[in-house]
Amino acid sequence: MKTKISWKKLYSLWAKEYDSWPSVRGVIDKKGILKLIGKIKRKEVLDLGCGTGKWSTILAKKGANVTAVDNSKEMLNVLKKKIKLENLKINTLKKDISKLKLNKKFDIIIMGLVMDNIKNLNGIFKVVRNHLKKEGIFLMSDPVYFSGIKKPMTKEITILENKYRITLYIHPEQEIKDLAKKYNLDVLKINKLKVDKSVKHIFDKKPHKSFSDYKGRHVLTIYKFKIK
Ligand SMILES: C[S@@+](CC[C@H](N)C(=O)[O-])C[C@H]1O[C@@H](n2cnc3c(N)ncnc32)[C@H](O)[C@@H]1O
Repeated sequence: MKTKISWKKLYSLWAKEYDSWPSVRGVIDKKGILKLIGKIKRKEVLDLGCGTGKWSTILAKKGANVTAVDNSKEMLNVLKKKIKLENLKINTLKKDISKLKLNKKFDIIIMGLVMDNIKNLNGIFKVVRNHLKKEGIFLMSDPVYFSGIKKPMTKEITILENKYRITLYIHPEQEIKDLAKKYNLDVLKINKLKVDKSVKHIFDKKPHKSFSDYKGRHVLTIYKFKIK
């Protein structure tokens, strides 16, 4: 029997292992966002849904002042260990990113691989609009499962020998364009990224998945916005 699981519960079970899993979308996300992000040094950065801090640590090491927000205590604990170990300047906050209210504005807001966890993105766009500096940018990446699907879908996962069902929220491009318009943001870029040879090593380690079957498949969309 497969039990339904919430994202929050899932991350609490996943947190300690999360960084050890080779992730195709994780590698593609890194490459794609770094291409669009511009200058990082001394920038004020807000990392929404920071998780174990993939973006927070990269950007702090490049000289940004990072505020990292997540609502999973377990994921944040992994990040806090890295901060201590590597003596990084990252301010962590345990909060819901859809309702965030900080008395501060940022040069860069980033939200990597979080959109499929969130059903209604209105709160996120409102938070971004309220926390972005006039010349700032917002970058967000959307994991794409099967192009063309427009409704939430369920994925089956196995954790600690138990089988669970999780809901993935699908956000079509038109929904994002409509949200940008509603919250007065300009869409500067929509980059559709595909499986390429930079992730072949990950497929080579998965016996049931062959690189040649996935090569060229659209797996991630990165959006870049600024204030109108
Ligand atoms: C797939 S992980 C991505 C982590 C990181 N951004 C990365 O690129 O590796 C998604 C993260 O979003 C967080 N998250 C999802 N919904 C959230 C919400 N409403 N408020 C705060 N964090 C949230 C989860 O706890 C999780 O750590």
